[in-house]
Parts: sequence; structure tokens; C-alpha cells
Amino acid sequence: MPGLTIIGTGHYVPGDPVTNDDLKRVMDTDDAWIRQRTGIHQRYYAPEGVGSSELGAKASALAIEAAGIDPKEIDYIVAATMTADYVFPGIGGQVAEKLGLGWIPALDIRQQCAAIPYAIQVADALATAGAASTVLVVGADAHAGFMPWTDWDVVYGKTERKVSPEAYARATAHRGLAVLFGDGAGAMILRKSPTPGHGFMSADLHTDGALAEGIYIPGGSFLNRPYWTPEMYERQEQVPRMNGRELFKSAVKRLPVSVRKLCKRHGVTLDDIDWFIAHQANDRINAAVRDALKIPAEKVPSNIARFGNTSAGTIGILMDEMVRDGRIQRGQLLCLFALGAGLNWGALLMRY
Ligand code: ACO
Repeated sequence: MPGLTIIGTGHYVPGDPVTNDDLKRVMDTDDAWIRQRTGIHQRYYAPEGVGSSELGAKASALAIEAAGIDPKEIDYIVAATMTADYVFPGIGGQVAEKLGLGWIPALDIRQQCAAIPYAIQVADALATAGAASTVLVVGADAHAGFMPWTDWDVVYGKTERKVSPEAYARATAHRGLAVLFGDGAGAMILRKSPTPGHGFMSADLHTDGALAEGIYIPGGSFLNRPYWTPEMYERQEQVPRMNGRELFKSAVKRLPVSVRKLCKRHGVTLDDIDWFIAHQANDRINAAVRDALKIPAEKVPSNIARFGNTSAGTIGILMDEMVRDGRIQRGQLLCLFALGAGLNWGALLMRY
């Protein structure tokens, strides 16, 4: 088993933060509601013309710099996004192009918010198979394009203009979803650990296709001919539909099972784990998982207040912050866990 470890991390978020109060200009929402239900205070949005590939490339450039490697040493990319620049292709190739990496293989995976545990498992498997030695794992999402408003100048407070009652009602109809997401990217460079026994240990990953519509985008669907119609926009089908309560319950029920299974598999206790690096969908989900596992809050760090849910970006962004401020140290035992659209979920153990 190669046991890939992380030798460099980076993250990037675009532009200026948009607070909960800023969002009140375009829909009926409330700072206290958002903070209390999710822990989110603000988020960032990619400007028009900036997509996930650009966010991902910027985070990746920082990860390459932190790893201190020549970019040409990267021989595989595993990219994750649910908001690619185009319906197809995925963003892996564009990230490679933006970084000047040449024609290396660039794989896109579609595990949404659960992408990073999957991506690290895939990277390790590629190394085991002899297909790669230095892998760039990048998770990036630019959700701004599916937000249920078009008055971005109002959101950013660049005008005193009020939005129309129709636009306000349209956005309010999707407020439960719209306040959750922010744009950003996290990246990591993985390579075989020089210390025997360190690096990736294993993952416990699952997909439940029966819940594919727990959160999904109905518009732009190839079930239709053509796959995009003006009526879809009339019905605001570019905005994801989400069964928030079902996702919440699934996360709280399923994630602790994965974490416990992994601990048993590797003969470690929950106490042995230094950090639980959780996907940042909602502070209340992570608090409930924490309570179910009876682990102390200090071991489950959160940065959702500043970024919102950046989907495939969250775990890489949080890890980069923790590596750079010294919380994550070599030799520590890390447990990553996440749940996302698909429904995909699971956990991963690695000795950093
Ligand atoms: N501002 C103010 N009020 C709101 C807002 C808002 N932004 N959104 C909803 N409300 C109101 C509702 O209209 C409702 O009012 P009513 O009782 O008068 O009808 C009330 O608040 C309760 O709404 P619920 O949707 O039932 O609120 P809930 O407590 O379920 O919380 C939430 C919603 C935060 C979305 C929660 O269900 C959740 O976090 N679920 C998990 C979602 C998730 O993790 N998604 C992303 C992961 S998946 C991926 O891969 C992308």
C-alpha cells in the first residue's frame, strides 16, 4: 500500500464576502435564522466569467508552492466539482491547462460535497496501481450561477435600487437553499509518505442512488429534449431542489457509522484521532455527529461561518487553514468525513 500523504495544501475564495444581511436585499431572510440553523455568517461568490476551474487552479497553485515541488512533477489530477464551467467536460483538464501541466491525465469525479474522501481514495489507488506518483486533488465549486436572483449589484450594495416584488418572491421561494452555499476551492498535493505507516489508511465510502433527488438540479436534464428549455427557467429549475431534512437526518445517522467502522478496521479508538475534518454543510449536522460519537467539540473544527458550504471545496479549505496555522502536525491521526448529493457519504483515516 503506498499510503499517500499530503505534502502541500492551498485554498482560494473569490472577491469580497457577502453577509447574511446583504442577502436580505434580494429575499426575505434573516441573519439570526441563518446563523442559528447553519452557523453561516458570510460566503463568497465567483464573479461572472469566473468558474470552478479558475478557483481550482488558484488553490492548486498555492498547494504546489506549499509542497515546494516543480509543477511538472504532478502526474495525475483528480478534480471534483458539481458546478463545472460547462455541462461537459469536467474541470480537470482546464485546471491542468491553467497551471501549465501539459497533457497529464485529469479525472473528474462527481461526488459533490463528499468528493474529497473519494478523491483521496482514488489518488491512493492510482499510486498503488503504478499509474501516478504525485497527484493533485482539487475540489472547487462556483454556485453563484444557480442562485435564484439576478440583481447582483443589489446583493453587493452597489446601488440603492430595490429589486422588483417578483424577483424578491422568486428568490425567497428558494431561500432555504440559497443561503447555504458559497464559492471556493481547496487543493492538496499527495505523494507516498516517506515515513512507513504514515499516509492514507483506508476509507469507508457509500452511495445511495435511491436518494439521488435528495438534492439535485432538475433543469438542464438529459431526460428532456432538448435538455434546456425556456420553461425550465420559468420554473427556476437552474436552482437545486433540496430535501434539507432528509439530508440532515441521513448525515447524522450515516456518518457516525462510517467513522466507527473505520476505527474498528484499524484498531484505533475515537480518542486516538487528533482531528475530525468534517465537510462544512451545516454546523448543526457536525454538532449532531459529534454528539453521536461523543467526541469533544475542539476536535471538530469549523470555518463555515466565513465560507458557507463550498461543496467539494470545504475539506481542502479547512485543511489548508489548519496546516498553515499549525494545528495539523505531521504524525497526527486525521479522520475526514462528508456527505453530499448522490447520495454519497463516508469517512477516511490518514496519518498526516
Ligand atoms: N431565512 C429565513 N427563514 C427561512 C430560511 C431562510 N434562509 N429558509 C427557510 N426558512 C423558514 C422556512 O420557510 C420555514 O418557515 P415556516 O415554518 O414558516 O414554513 C422555517 O424556516 C423552517 O424551514 P425548514 O426548511 O424546515 O428548516 P430546517 O430546520 O429543516 O433547516 C436547513 C433547513 C438548514 C437547510 C437544514 O435542513 C439543513 O441544513 N439540511 C442539510 C442540507 C445540506 O447539508 N445540504 C448540502 C449538502 S448536499 C451537497 O452535496 C450539495
